[in-house]
Formats: sequence, C-alpha cells, structure tokens
Amino acid sequence: MYTSYFKGLGFYVPDNVVTNDDLSKIIDTSDEWIQERTGIKERRHVIPGSEDSTTSMGLKAAKIALENSGLDKDEIDLIVFATLSPDMYFPGPGVYIQKELGLRNVGAIDVRAQCSGFVYATSIADQFIKTGMYKNVLIIASELQSKGLDMTTRGRGISVIFGDGAGAAIIGRSEDLNTGILSSHLHSEGEHAEALSMTAPGLGSRWVTDILKDNDPEDISYYPYMNGTFVFKNAVVRFAEVINEGLKTNNLQASDIDLLIPHQANLRIAQFIQKKFRLSDDQVYNNIMYYGNTTAASIPIALAEAHQKGLIKKGDLVVLAAFGSGFTWGSVIIRW
Ligand code: COA
Repeated sequence: MYTSYFKGLGFYVPDNVVTNDDLSKIIDTSDEWIQERTGIKERRHVIPGSEDSTTSMGLKAAKIALENSGLDKDEIDLIVFATLSPDMYFPGPGVYIQKELGLRNVGAIDVRAQCSGFVYATSIADQFIKTGMYKNVLIIASELQSKGLDMTTRGRGISVIFGDGAGAAIIGRSEDLNTGILSSHLHSEGEHAEALSMTAPGLGSRWVTDILKDNDPEDISYYPYMNGTFVFKNAVVRFAEVINEGLKTNNLQASDIDLLIPHQANLRIAQFIQKKFRLSDDQVYNNIMYYGNTTAASIPIALAEAHQKGLIKKGDLVVLAAFGSGFTWGSVIIRW
C-alpha cells in the first residue's frame, strides 16, 4: 500500500503588475468597485507582445517544483497539465513540458476542469501513485488569461477578476499511510456549463474561422462569459459541501483544519466559507488581492506561496477546495 504526498512546489507569476487604477484607465471601473466586490487590488498580466505563454509559465513553475523536490527529471513518470487557456487548441501543453524539460517519453495528460483543474490533477496523480503504477507525477496548472479578455467596458464584469500565472507540484510516493493525500473528491454539473464559459473557438458548433468570416463586432462568443451572481451562489454551496465531504470521509472536524486553501475565485466567497466553518484568519490562505483569479493556477500558486512563507508544517491538516466553470468542484484533504 502506498500514499502520495507533495514532494516539491513551485510557482511563477509575470513581473507585470496591473492595478485596479491601471484598469480604470481603459475601462469604466474603479479600485473601490473591484476591491469591494472581489477583494482584488492587483493582478499580473504578461507583457503584451512578450514571449510568455501558458506553457512557458507552466515550465518555469515546473522547474522550481522539480528543483525543490530534489528529484532528477528522469524520475518523473507522468505529466498532468491543467489549464483553460492552452496555447493551441490541440495538442495541449503537457507534451511541450515533456519536450522542454527533456523528460523520458512519459505520458502527458491535459486536464480541462477550469478552476478545479489543479484539484482534478492532484486527484489523478494520487490515483496513479496509490495503485503503485507511478512513483513521481509532475502536476502543473498555468493560465494566460489577459490576452483573451474583453478589455472594454462591455467585459468589465469579468475582465477585472482574472490574472495570469502558474503553479506546479511533484506528487511522490510514500509508504507512510498516515501522511500525504488522505482523500480527494471530484464533482461536476454540466447543466450549468454555460453560466461560466467561452463558447468559441471550436466545441463542435462554431469555429473561430466562422466567427472571423462573419466579422460581427457584437459577437462576444470568443470572450469568456460569466453569470456572476449565479456563479457566486453556486460556489458558496459547493465549496461548503465538498469541504464537508472531505472532512467526513476522514472523520475530521472543521476545527482540525490547519490551513484551508480555497481556489482564489473571489475574496468574498473565501470569507463566506471561512465564516461558515468558523475558521480564524490564519486557518485560511488568500492571495487573490495580489494575483486576481488565476483559475486552475490559483491553488498551486497559493499552496507554494504559503509553503514558502513557512505557513505549512509537517503534520498539518491542509485542505484544498475548488469550484469553477463546468460547473466542476472538488477537494483534497492532506496530512502534510
Ligand atoms: N466596475 C464597475 N462596475 C461594474 C463592473 C466593474 N468591473 N462590473 C460590473 N459592474 C456593474 C454592472 O454593470 C452593474 O451595473 P448596473 O447595476 O448599472 O447594471 C453593477 O455593477 C452590478 O453588476 P453585477 O454583475 O450584478 O455585480 P455583482 O454584485 O454580482 O458583482 C461579481 C459581480 C462578478 C463581482 C460577482 O457576481 C462575483 O464575484 N461573482 C462570482 C465570480 C467568481 O467568483 N467567478 C469565478 C468563479 S471560479
């Protein structure tokens, strides 16, 4: 019998800081509105025209995680890459990581679970390790959102929220069954797929070439769409459910949590969850104020940052929880 654990962490965010005041120069918004509704003060955007990509940011985070794990690259048995903003429609970024890191010809799985991508990726890695098939899995989540947002007043309800960045982890095998990933819990509800979605390009019905051919300036199908209020209402319910599911599976109470790292969707959602579970400020880690919502990358960035700050100690109960487009949601319960 094996268990899996976080053996190395890393994150990368672009240097370019975009404040709320910067955004209010190009769209009709304000620092006050954004902070009050979302808690976000600033986010990172890749410099327009730079070489930065979803893959290159993921690669940078992966290199740091690999170095922190102390492993040799040849010890990696599988790559799992989560993103909603792949550089190409196909193939996904996973194979480029294999190439750029010079890994053996290991498998590369691309995960399309949006904001829940890192939780899904962790669960996938955990299953491969627990069954004894693999010893070390590299998981990456990276997002380059800024190039695809509607940076006009029309898109302000969504474009002020999202940021760019990447996080990565090496999940390794252990025989100490009392530590590591205790359980993971994955869910989806496709009925609400379109409440937070981007319907173009592709997806079978309309390809980007059709849209360009039509050349309709009112066509916003190639920008992300979000029914913010509906997403908010579902998020608070599903976050609570899936955290409870994880705690119950392991006979734990909310008071046992040392650190909850919620997907950084919106500070108000995280605060709602904190209150519901009666957690203190130091039991919940938030950094959305500085990075915005980096979808799949938000949990690994927060996890790596919290770990770097010394906020996670051996033996701590760490809970990861995510909710996002799909809808998808999930949690991971970890004894560090
Ligand atoms: N700046 C200024 N005003 C804005 C704005 C912006 N960036 N975005 C929207 N507004 C305006 C709207 O146009 C609307 O104006 P109106 O009343 O004149 O029509 C008003 O603010 C209220 O808009 P609404 O969309 O109802 O705001 P809201 O209170 O629901 O807040 C969100 C919007 C997006 C902050 C909120 O719905 C939310 O956080 N939802 C969850 C989002 C989330 O977590 N997504 C990620 C999930 S993974």
